[in-house]
Amino acid sequence: MKFPFDPSEVVTPSYLYDLGLLQMTLSRIRDCIAGRPFKVHYAIKANNDRRLLDLIAMYGLGADCVSIGEVKYAIETGFEKNNVVFAGVAKTDNEITQALSYGIECIHVESMEELVNVDAIACRMKKKARIALRINPDIDAHTHHYITTGLAENKFGIDLRKADEAIRLAMSLENVELKGLHFHIGSQILTHEPFKLLCERINTLLAHVRSVHGVTLKYVNVGGGLGIDYEHPDQHPVSDFKGYFDTFANNLKLEDGQEVHFELGRSIVAQCGSLLTRVIYVKQGVEKKFVIVDGGMNNLIRPALYQAYHLIQNLSNPVGQTDKYDVVGPICESADVFAENRELPLTGRGDLLAIRSAGAYGQTMASHYNMRPEADVYYIR
Ligand code: LLP
Repeated sequence: MKFPFDPSEVVTPSYLYDLGLLQMTLSRIRDCIAGRPFKVHYAIKANNDRRLLDLIAMYGLGADCVSIGEVKYAIETGFEKNNVVFAGVAKTDNEITQALSYGIECIHVESMEELVNVDAIACRMKKKARIALRINPDIDAHTHHYITTGLAENKFGIDLRKADEAIRLAMSLENVELKGLHFHIGSQILTHEPFKLLCERINTLLAHVRSVHGVTLKYVNVGGGLGIDYEHPDQHPVSDFKGYFDTFANNLKLEDGQEVHFELGRSIVAQCGSLLTRVIYVKQGVEKKFVIVDGGMNNLIRPALYQAYHLIQNLSNPVGQTDKYDVVGPICESADVFAENRELPLTGRGDLLAIRSAGAYGQTMASHYNMRPEADVYYIR
């Protein structure tokens, strides 16, 4: 990792974003989708830092939003309205009304109940709502159960067995225009198999829509979910976008004019961010040594919430003799732990640590728990 600062002068806890790496990632995506009917919407929930969003919009990506707050922010940041989609398991009437008045690209509808409601609101507003139906394809993405979304037992989307009924209903409603189908099977997916299976399900469904309903939908949105290498961020700073996009190019049977939309979050921003935190004390426990740092689960909740692994580096003392430590935050919760039994170079009070791969679902999931302030932000190129 590039680190051009004097470790002793860095304000902590703080997020460090490597804009150069983000640009490298975005140009890889641009190269992989060039010449294909592919469009990528960035999932803003992963990180809404303004400078990151500016770069992402500059590379021509659209925005995938899950609240009207995100929709407004995306438009203010410079994403074109017709590049903004609004998804989410249930949108309030107020959110639907505002989204329709913005005239965004599409609303992703997640249930029959919501479909009827969007139609009614659009009717009152004398508008035609562009929508896609989110279908739950019942695929096991083999990821952490908190971040798998495409199983029948999950709350998301319309059950695959009801897809036909939903499509029929959407086509019969006067105030909605069915643009496409939307899927998302989960996050941090590291093999191509679940995506291949998704392509098969989509092919069957599109063939059915064509033969039974006689229409070709404008697009199919396959969601996000491409994983990153949390263990070796420096060996694999950019995800395997080629393999990912090739999987869809090789397995989806599209008709002429049909587009594939993607909603990537983690794979775009995770590796460009680190949480910098300083050691307050190294406390000798009865059986363990605790490295107690000034960053906590309020800054980065992933280890506490998903038992997620993040590589930790000691930037003040990067190499040499090592010891095993539990790296913990200062918050009054036993779950406030970043790593257990982690081998690190000998670590002492005042050392600066980097918790790597924290660019996605780090700052956006932060809180003020224990009345702690927000982390500062540094940028490097
Ligand atoms: N589209 C939809 C409908 C989603 O629900 C998500 C993420 C994405 C796209 C973007 O997925 P990605 O490319 O980032 O995998 N907080 C968790 C991850 C939650 C993912 C939520 N949905 C974590 O820190 O691992």
